[in-house]
Amino acid sequence: MSDLVREAARPLTHGASASPVAAVAGTALLRLNAASVRFGDVQALRPVTLTLYRGDRLALVGANGSGKTTLLRLLNGQISPSSGERSLAGHGRPPVSAMLFQRPFLLNLSVRRNLQLAFWLAGVPAAERVARLPLALDRVGLQALADRPARSLSGGQQQRLALARAWGVRPDILFLDEPTASLDPSAKREVEALIEEFARDGMTLVMSSHNLGQVKRLASRVVHLDAGRLVVDLPTEPFFNHDALPPEAAQFLKGELPWT
Ligand SMILES: Nc1ncnc2c1ncn2[C@@H]1O[C@H](COP(=O)(O)OP(=O)(O)O)[C@@H](O)[C@H]1O
Ligand SMILES: [Mg+2]
Repeated sequence: MSDLVREAARPLTHGASASPVAAVAGTALLRLNAASVRFGDVQALRPVTLTLYRGDRLALVGANGSGKTTLLRLLNGQISPSSGERSLAGHGRPPVSAMLFQRPFLLNLSVRRNLQLAFWLAGVPAAERVARLPLALDRVGLQALADRPARSLSGGQQQRLALARAWGVRPDILFLDEPTASLDPSAKREVEALIEEFARDGMTLVMSSHNLGQVKRLASRVVHLDAGRLVVDLPTEPFFNHDALPPEAAQFLKGELPWT
């Protein structure tokens, strides 16, 4: 075990420390400091302390209802913590983010119009919008379908359109909520390949996934949530190969087999 991994393996419980592996990989983008989320009587997320670093490929795993979507939305600033804080790290401009859902929300317009509208809403300047459109279509291989109604596309094509839309706003952080959960295996592979390329281009990823094979393929860091509690925050390799995970996490890994 390298020093890096040993160090990262230390804060096994409740993630009180940020991942030192990520700290080496990049500068801090976002921090949660004992941030919790409550919806009425439901404590969706118990206090979480976490730093997201530039270059992280963070996967959130856990059973249904464990708080993955809530943590994504909290990190993305769509909901405010009920207690504790979310803060932007560093002194530069705030990070730009985009979010992808299990099923993309697409307007009943052509592929091209959906992209134009999204870039306009994101504040991309007019001249730049024109230039980016073919690049974005090209990036995800949808040039030939630019004039098709977006809602007539297959599930995989729709998700690729959502990725083009995200790519076009040049986000620092891409949040993905179970992005391939409703796709067939070949569409899943295509979408995964694009996510991988985006990460290689320098986008920071935060994704929830039910698919542990996908987590192994795409993630550099894994957070395991159990009933709204952050149980583990580890680099991917030790997460899958650790012989002393907290019992909730070990049980989760066992239960999710076989991986697809
Ligand atoms: N808007 C909401 N209002 C009330 N309860 C919510 C809301 N969003 C999530 N919850 C609850 O918070 C908990 C965590 O949900 P969620 O973050 O969606 O989990 P996951 O994405 O892991 O399935 C669940 O008990 C869920 O029912
Ligand atoms: Mg969810």
